[in-house]
Amino acid sequence: MSPAINLTRRTLLVAGGAGSALALAACAPDATNPASGSPDAGTATPTEVATLTDIPVGGAQAVMLNGSQIIVSQPTEGTVVAFSAICTHKGCPVQPQQEGLACPCHGSLFDTATGAVLTGPATEPLPPVKVTLNGDKVMAG
Ligand code: FES
Repeated sequence: MSPAINLTRRTLLVAGGAGSALALAACAPDATNPASGSPDAGTATPTEVATLTDIPVGGAQAVMLNGSQIIVSQPTEGTVVAFSAICTHKGCPVQPQQEGLACPCHGSLFDTATGAVLTGPATEPLPPVKVTLNGDKVMAG
């Protein structure tokens, strides 16, 4: 083989190697892109989960966020707060009731406005979930 041919083959191999590296880079997760993370990483773009008018003032509504149930409450007109709907006792989903957020498994009751334990056996409050209002849209995440 002539040196020119070897040079051409080497050039092709180098170019192929660089192409492979670029292809790998294109497939690698992008740490700066929150959309590439897990759906409940907490850095995702806020998602509309409810409409303010659907949540009773002084009450709450159970909604889904990225496949997980959360509770959105409207303690006073025009303000919203949210909590994980997973009971801190043994993990059953709580439901909004007249008297608070009730767990059907062992009877824990949580405050609708704060997520605090009102009645055990749970001892820890429901973890808060960040929510904001965009007009009458409740945005979470
Ligand atoms: S899981 Fe909710 S009270 Fe036990």
